[in-house]
Amino acid sequence: MSTTLTIKSTIKEDKYIEIIPQIKALLLGETNLIANLANLSSVLKTTFEFFWVGFYLVEDNTLVLGPFQGSLACTRINFGKGVCGKAWEEKQTLVVPNVDLFKGHIACSSLSKSEIVIPLIKENKVFAILDVDSDKLNDFDEIDEKYLNELCLWLSEYL
Ligand code: SME
Repeated sequence: MSTTLTIKSTIKEDKYIEIIPQIKALLLGETNLIANLANLSSVLKTTFEFFWVGFYLVEDNTLVLGPFQGSLACTRINFGKGVCGKAWEEKQTLVVPNVDLFKGHIACSSLSKSEIVIPLIKENKVFAILDVDSDKLNDFDEIDEKYLNELCLWLSEYL
């Protein structure tokens, strides 16, 4: 397994196009869930310089903090609560341009300004959530949505 990923582009969409096949190859070389989610969090955070990237895993009907990169985060989120719990409830990706305007947003860090949350679904059940936070307002657009959705769809099948 190679532990070096290469990104030459500086344009966001091109970075996704370059990194996604490398992520898939990296994860296909390992079967352990935690190892894979940990490496994926690291790759996304360092490639795009996001403020926080991580996973919450559904356990006993609660989201429990999983592998992540970034500052300290809340460990448990209930169904329907915060952006993560809402994405779980609605089984759909949520893009939040300004977290202060999202009713019920859970502020793990006051530095987080915008957020995208994507549910990972297997057999119609959410089993995990990818949460990506930015310290800039309105930092996630249709490019992030498209490629992160594509990646999470693949992950949902692979994991
Ligand atoms: N902001 C999230 C909580 C998780 S932290 O951002 C890492 C939410 O509202 O669900």
